[in-house]
Amino acid sequence: MLKSLRLRSPSSARSMASPRRRATLSVAPKAVAVKRALLTGSRKNASHTLFLFLFSAFFFLIFFYTDEIKSLADYSFGTAARSKYQKDLAGESRNTPPAGISSAVADPVPERTQIPPKVEANRRPAAAAQDECELAVGRWVFDDVSYPLYKEHECQFLTEQVTCIRNGRPDDSYQKWRWQPRDCDMPRFDAKALLERLRGKRLMFVGDSLNRNQWESMVCLVQSAIPQGRKTLVKKGSFNVFRAEEYNATVEFYWAPFLVESNSDDPQIHSIRDRIIMADSIAKHGKHWKGVDYLIFNTYIWWMNTAKMKLLRGSFRRGSREYDLVDRPVAYRRVMATWASWVQRNLDPKKTMVIFMSLSPNHMRSKDWGNPKGVKCAMETMPIANASQTARLGTDWRLFRAEEEATRAMRFPAAFINITKLSQFRKDAHTSVHTLRQGKLLTAEQQRDPATYADCIHWCLPGLPDTWNEFVYARIVSRP
Ligand SMILES: *[C@@H]1O[C@H](CO)[C@@H](O)[C@H](O)[C@H]1NC(C)=O
Ligand SMILES: *[C@@H]1O[C@H](CO)[C@@H](O)[C@H](O)[C@H]1NC(C)=O
Ligand SMILES: *[C@@H]1O[C@H](CO)[C@@H](O)[C@H](O)[C@H]1NC(C)=O
Repeated sequence: MLKSLRLRSPSSARSMASPRRRATLSVAPKAVAVKRALLTGSRKNASHTLFLFLFSAFFFLIFFYTDEIKSLADYSFGTAARSKYQKDLAGESRNTPPAGISSAVADPVPERTQIPPKVEANRRPAAAAQDECELAVGRWVFDDVSYPLYKEHECQFLTEQVTCIRNGRPDDSYQKWRWQPRDCDMPRFDAKALLERLRGKRLMFVGDSLNRNQWESMVCLVQSAIPQGRKTLVKKGSFNVFRAEEYNATVEFYWAPFLVESNSDDPQIHSIRDRIIMADSIAKHGKHWKGVDYLIFNTYIWWMNTAKMKLLRGSFRRGSREYDLVDRPVAYRRVMATWASWVQRNLDPKKTMVIFMSLSPNHMRSKDWGNPKGVKCAMETMPIANASQTARLGTDWRLFRAEEEATRAMRFPAAFINITKLSQFRKDAHTSVHTLRQGKLLTAEQQRDPATYADCIHWCLPGLPDTWNEFVYARIVSRP
């Protein structure tokens, strides 16, 4: 079982199918290079087919050239990436046309032949690391053709907390960014394929409101493949359960903001300032996770109120009140250890896939990304373009390391999905003032006061959590 976020590129299989055409493309990283290739090609090789191919490729590039240049100036956040559109040039067409995608055509195209062939889409990578693609390493690309993956008004299950457009957000470009891994493409989200995987099974998100955010996204991503009347959503106690009748499958959310037992475990009445946790006690929640087929955990935001955590001595049931004050990362490591040992003792890796989502970052101070006139994340409509500015958002990397190390050290093969850094770019993707507060939509007056009311923690849907779920999807469908 894989531990880090590595996955074989499904596209590498397709690309291997046509080595000759691929070789042609790999010497054509930009329009100029294609032109050169066209000349040499027609001089040295009179092959009619090749000429036609290059000719159309050239026209294609000319056609999109202006957009590409613009996109390079505005949106290029990373280094080389094979673009989807180059792949389409190679004849590996997809469901959606590539037109309008801004991708770094001027970047050098990595030699695709370096990626060994992939035998079968579903086969677990048996061998070396070079077969695999580090999905988290990449950049954001504006792509209003393939994105959003669903429409806000088409998903009846979205809560008012996240329907930013309906709540008055004027711009929708935050829905149209695609995460482009450097060395491969994200597998395209296929709701039916995922539902087939989930047939007769349960998938459960466990954690805080960010994981609920992601659960809502997952519900929307799969619900479109299920006809009206064959899907239900029931909220009861700590559970939110979406059911796909035909598949006898569920996509669930379970509220446990610290994973371990705490005084914040009531899913409704939980705005408790004085947060106290029982760092070694997880069975109360864990009993609801046993036998679930796919478990996706997170915990972060509830840790961020204070520098020190209150760890109860004794138990809530026995009425204990005394606690120890423990530094946040120390307490967090202890909770991760409790979680890891619960997983090891209670789950069977042959039945259950365990995923831990890395922490979701906030965007609280606009000066962090060089906008001193801004107010928190309000009015932000573009991702952060300067990667070095993402380093200063106040993310507690000590907790990130604790998550990463705890999942890596486990005997149980748990996956760590690393979405922190890529989410740090997305100052534009928060719900901001287009959301609820204490169950009520913000009034116009409140919306004008983002310093007080903007939510720069949660994310609009469709939006960033859809990308997180593409990572989850990749992980689930790549399992043998
Ligand atoms: C997480 O992903 C970022 C890029 O998005 C990368 O720089 C970092 O090394 C990754 N960390 C781990 C622990 O995988
Ligand atoms: C439906 O799925 C559950 C697991 O979620 C399983 O226990 C049950 O046997 C399934 N029922 C049928 C009829 O397949
Ligand atoms: C990126 O941000 C850093 C830190 O604020 C700054 O020093 C640097 O000049 C910026 N680079 C560009 C290209 O704006």
